Amino acid sequence: MKSFPVLRIILCGFGVVGQSLSKLLLSRAEDLYARYGLKPRIVGVYDSKGSAVDSSGLDLNQLLQVKKKNGTIKKYRTEKSNVKVIDMISSLDADVLIEATSSNYKDAEPGMSHITEAMKGGLSVITVNKGPLALAFPSLTELATYNHVMLRFSGTVGGGTPILDYAKNSLQGERITSFDGILNGTTNYILTNMTNGMTFESALADARKKGYVEADESLDIDALDAAAKLVILANWIMGMKVTMPDINRTGIRDVTTEDIKHATEKKCAVKLIASCNRELVVGPREISVNDPLCVNGTLNAITFNSEHSGQQTIIGKGAGGMETASSILRDLLDIRQGMLNH
Ligand code: HSE
Repeated sequence: MKSFPVLRIILCGFGVVGQSLSKLLLSRAEDLYARYGLKPRIVGVYDSKGSAVDSSGLDLNQLLQVKKKNGTIKKYRTEKSNVKVIDMISSLDADVLIEATSSNYKDAEPGMSHITEAMKGGLSVITVNKGPLALAFPSLTELATYNHVMLRFSGTVGGGTPILDYAKNSLQGERITSFDGILNGTTNYILTNMTNGMTFESALADARKKGYVEADESLDIDALDAAAKLVILANWIMGMKVTMPDINRTGIRDVTTEDIKHATEKKCAVKLIASCNRELVVGPREISVNDPLCVNGTLNAITFNSEHSGQQTIIGKGAGGMETASSILRDLLDIRQGMLNH
């Protein structure tokens, strides 16, 4: 029987998540082999300025040091450097591509090309980049099936909190009828601060200072990030075939201190809720402060309503480098199990 101890990985994107994953793999190397018989080996890395390739495995400590010193992995000393990313994906012997470049919701590039090139070449894919899934979830899952590869994306919703796995696997056999979620930590932080008396502008400035807000703040504030997560949930959990334009989306720019005050008087709070209940909607809504969904700060939460097992709420951190890296590890183990089963 095959055991696939070594998983050869191409890592696209070496920002916070890529670096956290490298640190996680370094610190868990012995444990991963002892507990799961798994030896992940990163054979190629790409960041926006260059690439590094070594089919016998890149030295992760060195990679992290080079990145820290130069802001890119371009200067990592290896026989082959600065191979074009698409050539790396199509020519390097690998099992899995991890896509961790930034999300964009205009054309989803460069992540979209990385993912499609990898799957066409027979690689399974883990993406924490939401852009390609938001714009093309149905066709990407079809492409994975057609090429007999696995496409996994645990970290795209809830970061390290296993929201997708819970609904898909723990509630297996159940029929989820609807759900409501707070899926964006930054806007939840801003709305929480507004509930505590700040104006929208000062709450946004505070969130920026803490480093919560995306480089393109519109992704958070105008609810593109929450809408992308709703697309992923709707496809994966509810079996819908939808993309970004199917979401009725409103951000939090127009939430006023008056709105917050009215909600407080009714023992409610204004939250950015992504909901799937006949329609797919993301927008600010009042919910009771006693509702388990009503979490504060940067927390995420989601309530699933299911036919037989009732209502359940999952709460956890929805972002963070190490948390998201841990979701990638879950997906790696899942993919390895899939390879063993076949
Ligand atoms: N900008 C996102 C948030 C990061 O605030 O939740 C995680 O997707």
